[in-house]
Amino acid sequence: MAQDARLARWRADTPGCEHVNHLNNAGAALMPRPVVDAMTAHLALEARIGGYEAADAVRGQVDETYGLFARLLGAEPRNIALVANATTGFIQALSSFDFAPGDTILTSRCDYTSNQIQYLALAKRQGVRILHADDLPEGGIDPDSVHRLLRANRVRLVSVSWIPTNSGLVQDVAAVGRVCREAGTPFLIDACQALGQIEIDVAALHCDYLSATGRKFLRGPRGTGVLYASDQALARGDHPLFVDMRGAVWSSPDAYELAPTAKRYEDWEFPYALVLGMAAAARYALTVGVGTARELAWALAARARDGLAAMPGVRVLDRGCTRCALVTFDRPGRDAERVVAALSARKINTVASLKWYNQYDFVEKQVDAAVRMSPHYYNTEGEVDAFLEAVREALAGA
Ligand SMILES: Cc1ncc(COP(=O)(O)O)c(C=O)c1O
Repeated sequence: MAQDARLARWRADTPGCEHVNHLNNAGAALMPRPVVDAMTAHLALEARIGGYEAADAVRGQVDETYGLFARLLGAEPRNIALVANATTGFIQALSSFDFAPGDTILTSRCDYTSNQIQYLALAKRQGVRILHADDLPEGGIDPDSVHRLLRANRVRLVSVSWIPTNSGLVQDVAAVGRVCREAGTPFLIDACQALGQIEIDVAALHCDYLSATGRKFLRGPRGTGVLYASDQALARGDHPLFVDMRGAVWSSPDAYELAPTAKRYEDWEFPYALVLGMAAAARYALTVGVGTARELAWALAARARDGLAAMPGVRVLDRGCTRCALVTFDRPGRDAERVVAALSARKINTVASLKWYNQYDFVEKQVDAAVRMSPHYYNTEGEVDAFLEAVREALAGA
């Protein structure tokens, strides 16, 4: 199908396109109609016949969901856990490690805000040490620095955000994964912003765990996430600290038996309607093709960066050799939140990224707050141009 026809089809499938210029896909993308339909149909079924009975009726579809996510991640259904959000998956993975005082978590300077807070909480409560690997000169974690730090320290876990929340940087997690494998150190990837905009093959990433969310570039519903747990992690007997009766069976008065698959990371109470929405989003992404999504979204982001860079005083803040569909910029002296509000008044959706979201990256860049725009494959060049025009006017009027 010609590109224009495909775009028209994707937009016709997306009711929100009629109402907004949605450039906040890194926040939550507009859901396509099949996602919304899958959820509303299940809610109607729950209302009609009862929640547990409705769950029984869709068991086959729920089972299929694991296969769809396995395809998206290059894994097997047994490696997939469906969880409440990326952070929940990340925490479930993190809590599988019994950290002792002095154990080290090695991470990147661009790791996601909540992850950094969680490392600090582990430091405070369990005496864990946190090390941040150096960045490459062009930005993003330096795999050689990871290698050096692994040799010199007792590192229990390496944990890296593939794409941080506050810039268009794509970190080289495959190179970090190779270093971890050589050293035999477990590796956890936060792929929250990657799922749906970058093809994922967990085998090539050499990760033990990978967490992601449903609502961003995958275009699924809010309140959904996925966790990949490798066969190696499952075979080690890894499980979350607070495993529940979905993840394990209470097999005798003083013992429990783990679920053999990654379901050990799930909760017994399961949002069936949301999971069916997630399945529809995964199916939709596989039909569009994640490679196609990446090419189109990244081209729109590059167009936005070029337009922004040409505006006097505007700083495009994204670093790294590879830059994705997140675009961040500021204009020193101008309030990012007011720019976002001015865009919103024109029905152009973006968000502000605040200084405290990254105490390393934004401090180094001397950013108080940045505007973040994030196109996806269903956006148009016209929408990016309308955004650029609105930014020009917002900055002139501020
Ligand atoms: C890099 C990154 N990791 C994790 C998250 C958290 O995702 P969730 O809200 O689904 O827990 C976000 C959310 O913006 C993110 O950008």
